Amino acid sequence: MKKLPNSRLRKIRTWEPGEKTFQLIGSGKNNESISLIDLASNDYLGLSQDPRLIEAAHKTMISEGLGAGGSRLVTGTRPIHIKLEEELSKWLGLERVLLFPSGFQANLAAVSALANRKTLVIADKFIHHSLLMGIKASGAKVKRFAHNNMDDLEKLLQKCELNKQTQPPLVITESLFSMEGTSPDIREIALLCENYQARLLVDEAHSLGVLGNQGRGLCHGISKGITMISGTFGKAFGSGGAFLATNNTVGEHLLQTSGAFRYTTALAPPLASAALEALRLLKANPNKGKRLQEEAMVWRSELANQGWNCPKGIGPIISLEIGTDEGSLKKQYELEEHGLLTIAIRPPTVPEGTSRLRVIVRSNLPTNTLKKLLFHLGEKQ
Ligand SMILES: Cc1ncc(COP(=O)(O)O)c(C=O)c1O
Repeated sequence: MKKLPNSRLRKIRTWEPGEKTFQLIGSGKNNESISLIDLASNDYLGLSQDPRLIEAAHKTMISEGLGAGGSRLVTGTRPIHIKLEEELSKWLGLERVLLFPSGFQANLAAVSALANRKTLVIADKFIHHSLLMGIKASGAKVKRFAHNNMDDLEKLLQKCELNKQTQPPLVITESLFSMEGTSPDIREIALLCENYQARLLVDEAHSLGVLGNQGRGLCHGISKGITMISGTFGKAFGSGGAFLATNNTVGEHLLQTSGAFRYTTALAPPLASAALEALRLLKANPNKGKRLQEEAMVWRSELANQGWNCPKGIGPIISLEIGTDEGSLKKQYELEEHGLLTIAIRPPTVPEGTSRLRVIVRSNLPTNTLKKLLFHLGEKQ
């Protein structure tokens, strides 16, 4: 096995979540826990600690037990799965929703359902590893377009029209890139796909609950050009598990053919129940995501005032590029000493030479967190 330099090694650290801070277990000088403000998790709305979600999961656990004990097509389907699928489908305005135990798995299923050895996949340069694994497993040929670059995407679509593919190409992108914090113009991508008769898969893992009309993601309200979206409950929804949403025809194809749907234990009912409660909370408070977005824009402009190249994007993920692995890790540890948790993101997660700090703006942060961050982060060197 190739030996990695120290700055590339990953280690598992253990956390105890609290209402406002995370306890990093056993990492103080005398092995005690230290308390850090969470500017790193994807729990954007703080729902993972919300008593209403916990109560919903608890009630389901008491009435139905913990695990589903079977796959969806054998004995694993419970009324809570059907309710969640139906309510999500209404909320998103898409005909069919199918649940999966994780977003990674949903993405594998999505690509496998839409691509095979004869397909040309045209994918953004920065799509998530799970989508890449899906492409690999499908055996499809793949071409990448420069990140969020519509001209580049159109050139590839034009080329494939000239080459007369035997089946429509599949374009894959995300609506909020988790390591960049950026979002493409989904409406324009959908239009391009419609014009060139391509299919489009959009991973909305980080947008749902936060971006788009009432937090319903950036695909919401686009009536043509989008074939399927994937979403997860492990981020803004504060629970776990995931789903694919599409039209009836593609949904039925998924149900009948997807091994990733069929040959796995159904999503644990308490998690489904917490996800449904999160959905209901979002429906009752439709401006939660918008308020977080506004807060994130304040953070962006304050960081820019302090010399951090105005970080791109509209959502709660702010990527502060530092360049070197060592520099990013040093900043992470310095901030930890001052009670702030942000994570240094290094290759292979991001391209060589672009190591960065990933700062997450969350809606239940203590007051003055931004002030504290600006003070301890300092100006960009
Ligand atoms: C863009 C994106 N898609 C999919 C996933 C996988 O979701 P899950 O955590 O539910 O497996 C992630 C999680 O890291 C992600 O960032």
